[in-house]
Amino acid sequence: MKMVFLRDLEPDYTIGKSIYNSDGKLLIKSGTKTTRDNINFLKKNMVFFVYVEDDALDDVKINEEFDNVRATALGEMPTVFNNLLTGDKKNAEQSMKVMHNLVDYIVADGSANINLYELKSYDQYTYIHCIDTSIMACFIGKSLGYTGKKLKELSMSGLLHDIGKIKIPNEIINKKEKLTEDEFKSLKLHTKYGKEIIEKYDTFSEDVLRGIYEHHEKYDGTGYPLGLKGNNISEFARIISVCDVFTAVSANRSYRKRFNPNEAYELILSGSGTSFDPNIVQKLRMTFFVYPLGSCVRLSNGVEGYVVRQNKTFPDRPVIRVTYDTATRQPISPYEVDLMSNWNVVVEEVI
Ligand SMILES: [Fe+2]
Repeated sequence: MKMVFLRDLEPDYTIGKSIYNSDGKLLIKSGTKTTRDNINFLKKNMVFFVYVEDDALDDVKINEEFDNVRATALGEMPTVFNNLLTGDKKNAEQSMKVMHNLVDYIVADGSANINLYELKSYDQYTYIHCIDTSIMACFIGKSLGYTGKKLKELSMSGLLHDIGKIKIPNEIINKKEKLTEDEFKSLKLHTKYGKEIIEKYDTFSEDVLRGIYEHHEKYDGTGYPLGLKGNNISEFARIISVCDVFTAVSANRSYRKRFNPNEAYELILSGSGTSFDPNIVQKLRMTFFVYPLGSCVRLSNGVEGYVVRQNKTFPDRPVIRVTYDTATRQPISPYEVDLMSNWNVVVEEVI
């Protein structure tokens, strides 16, 4: 099942979850095929999101433009990495233009309306990880007030942050078991290798370089390669490190299931001030919603409902319209719970 914005909804989808209006009245039952008429009916009822069955989506375009730009950038990634590695300056610059399109799209989009669900699981790992780190860094950069050249540089630094891994043996990169001490030592060299690859080009600024070299530094000084602390770590690296960890744990790896967005988000929050710069974590909170409007959730007090409003400063504590009680297994007369004023209740699971 997958969530789709109503603006992207077209006829012939199969509704995956029944849709209720704000009074709890059933609008469309799960299993219904969408038509022009019932889509208009949902629009009139101010429905923003619906859940649809996945296989209906193969040919359907969701967030088409953004996905296209990202897909093009993704297709170009191996070429960019290889050109950079072989020192082919002219070709490298050419292929990097595609990456600039991605940033242009994010900049032109106006609001950071991407939600954490859109940075999701994929099989092909490394390049997607780089692209998503770059996209996320770009949104955070935007909320820090970055514009123009600086934003492009940040995005480029995010995109290239792990380029040094190209010099690490695949057995280490893909190893499912815990790395030995020696293997971990070699893996750590990827920040140094990355710096060496990139510093050959005068097109990259010092900021880009430091973003790559310092992205495994930790705010409390326990990271590598230099053990830098606090604001001695470049701002680019402090941003990239948050995005790197978030997108890494959100991805499906062969040896473990991915974290839910809320779990990944919790992990970042718990590292605020130790692994991560608290100001950057705060920006993450302001920039991304954890539970998009319309997502169905189970609360820790045993009731279920869906997100009807966001609390901007606390994206993990939205307003929920409760419609179901798991204890009685019965729909209940709907009511709203604002998690901002009910601190003893948390979202337990996205359902
Ligand atoms: Fe890395």
